[in-house]
Amino acid sequence: MRLRKLGNTGLTASEVSLGTAEIGLDYGFKGSPQYSRPSLQDSIRLIHRAVDRGINWLDTARAYGDSEEVIGRALKDLSPGPRISSKVIFDHPVSEMGAAAQRNQVFQSIESSLRALQVEAIDLLYIHNATEKLLRETAIRDSLEEARSQGKIRLAGATCYGEEDALAVLKDPLFQVLQVPFSLLNQKMRRRVFPEAARKGVGVFVRSVFLRGVLTPQIDSLPERLAPLREQASKILQVLGSEVDGLAEAAVRFCLSLPEISSVLMGLKNEAELESNVSGLSRGPLPEAMMPALAGLSLSDPALVDPTHWQDLI
Ligand SMILES: NC(=O)c1ccc[n+]([C@@H]2O[C@H](COP(=O)([O-])OP(=O)(O)OC[C@H]3O[C@@H](n4cnc5c(N)ncnc54)[C@H](OP(=O)(O)O)[C@@H]3O)[C@@H](O)[C@H]2O)c1
Repeated sequence: MRLRKLGNTGLTASEVSLGTAEIGLDYGFKGSPQYSRPSLQDSIRLIHRAVDRGINWLDTARAYGDSEEVIGRALKDLSPGPRISSKVIFDHPVSEMGAAAQRNQVFQSIESSLRALQVEAIDLLYIHNATEKLLRETAIRDSLEEARSQGKIRLAGATCYGEEDALAVLKDPLFQVLQVPFSLLNQKMRRRVFPEAARKGVGVFVRSVFLRGVLTPQIDSLPERLAPLREQASKILQVLGSEVDGLAEAAVRFCLSLPEISSVLMGLKNEAELESNVSGLSRGPLPEAMMPALAGLSLSDPALVDPTHWQDLI
């Protein structure tokens, strides 16, 4: 597993990292045979296998059910363990909270994460789903800064959905790492966000690189509403020909072809998916000559490429 610089943090990230919503919650397309989360023992084995394969970052959140607790159990048998990113949860709309309540929520969320993960500090704490509006609530970013100065977190970051939200994050030097959705089918972050992150030395984790399983063998059993994505996926495979062994490999190697990306977060549920997804990594980035054609295959219809529009399907 190759390592990449995590922006200017002085840390490195394995070129792929492990998302863990899938082990904390029932996750995926409703009705799919794979919807249920794995057992505790299988989840621990999956984490151990990921670390054996060289993955050095796990991504979790207070909002991911038991994910932090499961990671806490898995970390007991690992020395050195991987680095952990988690995310602050707010149980009320922040605009309805005063500054003191916002600060309390940040610290309660951090304390809960520390207990669940059984660690003394969280390597990277994101604001979960940061928006321009949320970022104007300065008590939240000030609380993260305070937590960092107390040693409860090592780095602060933010996860976002939209371009404008991500650009707002990049204006504040407190945030040293950004996490955004990005895939062959949704490349909007390439235009302004990645160049700005690179200019500012901010580390970038990309997520939803399989578009929640669309760019995997699951393409053949998609809910009918997402069927138009099949045509786009077949165009991707036409461009790549024998260069890749399937969509999941294409999805990951495409992201690894962009130097602004520090690490590609992979959501998965079992060791077979892990092995299959890492098997193509040794082939490295895609050939430069194929990149312009792939850039042309990005879609912009949010109903197709933004899973926040799929609430009835997932
Ligand atoms: N707002 C946020 O901060 C935010 C939002 C979303 C996700 N995330 C993070 O990003 C991680 C991953 O993102 P994502 O959930 O959007 O999804 P993703 O990585 O695009 O897709 C994950 C799904 O792909 C399927 N998959 C992966 N490899 C496969 C293979 N070889 N064969 C068949 N299916 C395969 C799995 O489906 P099955 O589960 O059906 O096996 C898995 O659930 C999450 O775990 C979480 O850590 C953060």
